[in-house]
Amino acid sequence: MKLIEQIKVKAARLNKTIVLPEGEEPRTLKAAEIVLREGISQLILLGDEKTIQNLASELEVNIEKATIVNPKTDFRRDAYANMMVEIRKSKGLTKDDALKLLDDPLFFGPIMIKAGDADGEIAGAINATGDVLRPAFQFVKTLPGCSVVSGAFLMFVKEEFGHNGVMVFSDCAVMPDPNENQLAEIAVTTARTAKAIVGMEPKVALLSFSTKGSAKHPMADKVVNATLIAQELAPDLIIDGEMQLDAAIIKEVGELKAPGSKVAGQANVLVFPSLESGNIGYKLVQRFAGAEAIGPILQGMAAPINDLSRGCSVNDIVNMIAVTAAQAGGE
Ligand code: ACO
Repeated sequence: MKLIEQIKVKAARLNKTIVLPEGEEPRTLKAAEIVLREGISQLILLGDEKTIQNLASELEVNIEKATIVNPKTDFRRDAYANMMVEIRKSKGLTKDDALKLLDDPLFFGPIMIKAGDADGEIAGAINATGDVLRPAFQFVKTLPGCSVVSGAFLMFVKEEFGHNGVMVFSDCAVMPDPNENQLAEIAVTTARTAKAIVGMEPKVALLSFSTKGSAKHPMADKVVNATLIAQELAPDLIIDGEMQLDAAIIKEVGELKAPGSKVAGQANVLVFPSLESGNIGYKLVQRFAGAEAIGPILQGMAAPINDLSRGCSVNDIVNMIAVTAAQAGGE
């Protein structure tokens, strides 16, 4: 069974509730119909009930099983606002400010999760990444012991690479310029995502333009130090660096440039040194090699909240709802 089908089966078994802040958006409604029909998760659509129902009739989609919640009139607004004030009191958030923020579905969604009224969220079909992430950072926050949220992609490449053709790339979506500690944390969280979602034994390569000291530059030093920190943070994981992409994934090059490495030539998790390289890197593989890319799967957040690309298809939304629901089960 294909990995995404396995994830859908897992999600269906968990029967989690996913909130969709972009409930008035056509692709989201089409995806909602499929998710509900296939029983992948329960869904909450945020928006004006009449607008959503009219759009659903126009599109001829059946969303009867979804719960529709209007953030502007919902009965929980007062309680939610109190909770928001409590979370952001050190930042001076007032109740009036909180109530205004709740008008915005991108804030209402994460607050529903914080209150235990939903298990996860997917948005970003019509909103920029930063606008999806900021409310989540402010109110849902990171997992205990984790300070950095980052974004991983599952890349479906040639069978000969990675775990039966699946590689995990990170960070391709969130942290523009991580320092060495943050990069180390990203490496460790990505390995855990690879294990949990793909079921692979992660072999993590921290990428650079240098392999084992072949170049001297502060940018390479950052990756060298991040590798040492990551190895210390997670001695149970197989992590190595700094290494170039070819040394990470091609056996002969790995043996030549990084002899004795447990990762070189067989990496299945690639950690990029910055968001520039990660974001450009996954898109190169996707566009030139025709690799399917699922993500970004956000990792390090206290609850699963995932972001879509604005160019996403209905199928992308369905897949990401399944991934989010599977993450919500702690799997
Ligand atoms: N992990 C955890 N918390 C974070 C992170 C992070 N990576 N980044 C910011 N925060 C927290 C901050 O600590 C802060 O918390 P506080 O308010 O409680 O003090 C809060 O979030 C806001 O922080 P800012 O630094 O003010 O947030 P800012 O808006 O500057 O940046 C953002 C956050 C939006 C994620 C920014 O880093 C960004 O724009 N990243 C790039 C996103 C992007 O465009 N990706 C590419 C497109 S995605 C794709 O192509 C698939």
